[in-house]
Amino acid sequence: STRPVIAVDGPAAAGKGTLARRLAAHLGLAYLDTGLLYRATGRRVLDAGANPRDPAAAEAAARGLNPADLARGDLRGPEADMAASAVAAQPGVRAALLDWQRDFGRTHGAVLDGRDIGTVVFPDARVKLFVTASAEERARRRWLELRGRGAEVAQEQVLAELRARDEQDAARAVAPMKPAEDAVLIDTTEMDADAAFARALAVVEGKL
Ligand code: C5P
Repeated sequence: STRPVIAVDGPAAAGKGTLARRLAAHLGLAYLDTGLLYRATGRRVLDAGANPRDPAAAEAAARGLNPADLARGDLRGPEADMAASAVAAQPGVRAALLDWQRDFGRTHGAVLDGRDIGTVVFPDARVKLFVTASAEERARRRWLELRGRGAEVAQEQVLAELRARDEQDAARAVAPMKPAEDAVLIDTTEMDADAAFARALAVVEGKL
């Protein structure tokens, strides 16, 4: 089919999800939050009482993933964030989730957001965006979001956790977070969601 795949990668809390979901709705494409796959895998490992850094436990959890796991309400928060990042560093986990992501994109045409969509999952995606913002701004946004949900947490702690996760995601040997060579960078530090969407749409329309 000729329905395009659009890759939206970038660090945590850069606004990728909001942007990707909006692009998908606007373009009539399916949307996949690939972070959910790693989050649900991490959660399954924790539920089994195993360590997210244990390769066998993590791969088994990824292979056993089912749709109900992705709909769980406990996939966010500091523990889920770090468990996701820990399982995501393991080659067996990434291999287990790769075909599923590719099938999804090829079947529907889709906007996928993650860390390695433009580099590994769909190196031939029609459009690749790498969405970033300063760590401070990302921490501020995540903190506001957490506060809105009633969580009491210091902004410095949110910043420290974001930095730790980004470092782990960028430093891993397999599918590290990095912009594809042909990705268009969008820095949203000084943009609101509408401005980021307008910028992304302009890039996409220039390439479709
Ligand atoms: O995007 P989100 O913050 O929900 O992703 C959670 C974690 O899953 C990331 O910190 C990263 O370790 C992992 N991930 C990944 N590759 C993707 C999407 C997410 O490694 N394509």
